[in-house]
Amino acid sequence: MRQTCDQLEAKAIESLGQVASAAALEAWRVDYLGANGAIRDLMNQFKGAPKDQKPALGKRLNELKGALEEAFESRKSSMEPAAATAGLDVTEPGVEVGLGRRHPISRTIDGIVDAFRMMGFQVVDGPEVEDEWHNFTALNIPEGHPARERTDNFFMPSIGGVARLLRTQTSTVQIRALESMPLPLKVVAVGRVYRPDTHDATHYSMFHQVEGLSVDRGVSMADLKTTLIQFAHAYFGEEAEVRMRPSFFPFTEPSAEVDMKMQIKGQWQWVEIGGCGMVDPAVLQAVGVDPEAWTGFAFGLGVERIAMRKHGIADIRWLFENDARFLRQFG
Ligand code: DAH
Repeated sequence: MRQTCDQLEAKAIESLGQVASAAALEAWRVDYLGANGAIRDLMNQFKGAPKDQKPALGKRLNELKGALEEAFESRKSSMEPAAATAGLDVTEPGVEVGLGRRHPISRTIDGIVDAFRMMGFQVVDGPEVEDEWHNFTALNIPEGHPARERTDNFFMPSIGGVARLLRTQTSTVQIRALESMPLPLKVVAVGRVYRPDTHDATHYSMFHQVEGLSVDRGVSMADLKTTLIQFAHAYFGEEAEVRMRPSFFPFTEPSAEVDMKMQIKGQWQWVEIGGCGMVDPAVLQAVGVDPEAWTGFAFGLGVERIAMRKHGIADIRWLFENDARFLRQFG
């Protein structure tokens, strides 16, 4: 039995040295010092030992128990702080949490929309996959018009015999608003438009437009210009200016190109930002609105153009490559 004590002690101390977790330490305690553990076993055997050996054996057993209890306590106290900080080097620099930020296009859209919202415009939406009626016909772009060429549009498989395409302009939402909303109305719509352009520094097959439409009794060109000037002041600052140059769009008459004078790196510069005009009576008629009773103005602004000039972005492709090193510069 003496020998058993020696062997047990050696084994217990060795396995205690391999204990690496609080759970393993507890398992070790149960194995050796627990109510049904190895020490308890030896105590039970001790009862049947020859009487003359009992004093020495009893002493040895008590020593063994004391030695294992001590070893357990010292292992426990040496482990406690280590367990709390296991694998943690408190001197190591912390992990930097990389905060995301809004894409420059989203930020530009938010700013533009906020300005129009403050001017009483309601934000509306329309689908990106459109039919030819909303993208062309109702907008006074008749069949056979060069804008409807298959090569100038992303046509998609027809559904129920109706040709579908990715919208080429947000002017489609003018038609959707007039079809579904009561008059008078004052709406802006923002969204993606698609054109099969070859990608280069200023062209991309997808970009964003902000469309505006106001239809009321007696709306005039003066209201259009006032609205654009108010927008320019709200978005680009009080010193911003608006210039309109005569132009042509099938859905407006008269029509104009819109330039705004905005501050670019401290310099006020004219930038062409979109088109506008008085809604053509043919457009109102297409959606059943009487052009004798109602008039309207409309405008469409290019979001990328505004963002690129404002931030000095030389290549439109950078906006869509999602290179974090580029995007991190904004906001
Ligand atoms: N839809 C035109 C384009 O994509 C932009 C535009 C011009 C929109 C005049 C309008 C407008 O609402 O009145 O080039």
